[in-house]
Amino acid sequence: MKIQVISVLLLLSAEHIFGLNFYQKHVVKEWDGNCDEKMIAINKPGKCKRINTFIVDPDNLLGDICKGKKNQEHVTSKDQFVTHDCVKNDSKLPACAYTEEIKPDPNQKIRIKVLCEKNKPVHYEWKCN
Ligand SMILES: *[C@@H]1O[C@H](CO)[C@@H](O)[C@H](O)[C@H]1NC(C)=O
Repeated sequence: MKIQVISVLLLLSAEHIFGLNFYQKHVVKEWDGNCDEKMIAINKPGKCKRINTFIVDPDNLLGDICKGKKNQEHVTSKDQFVTHDCVKNDSKLPACAYTEEIKPDPNQKIRIKVLCEKNKPVHYEWKCN
């Protein structure tokens, strides 16, 4: 009983220290087109991340992409996904303002490349087909 309570506390504090996990940062069930709103949850207090990619995965196909993979292994998804890139505006306004990068074909799907650690994706590897 005591051990359970302690491990719950450890989980909570790990999340607190290390921030959002890969899925929370990069995976959405649907896209509503609002970068500013989506980035509020991503940015740490006082910081504006320069760019963040959102992967639209309504059927949770990315869920176990790192299952059975080695630590530090780079994995490319079998499935292809629509992605949205939110890029910070150049303006020096205090607020973090974002604009979605316009793609030639907004419905284009790409394979997702990630870095795995302990059977979980920890890093989105930028732009690869
Ligand atoms: C950010 O840039 C976009 C595109 O240039 C613009 O429409 C938007 O108003 C800008 N946001 C702010 C807060 O400056």
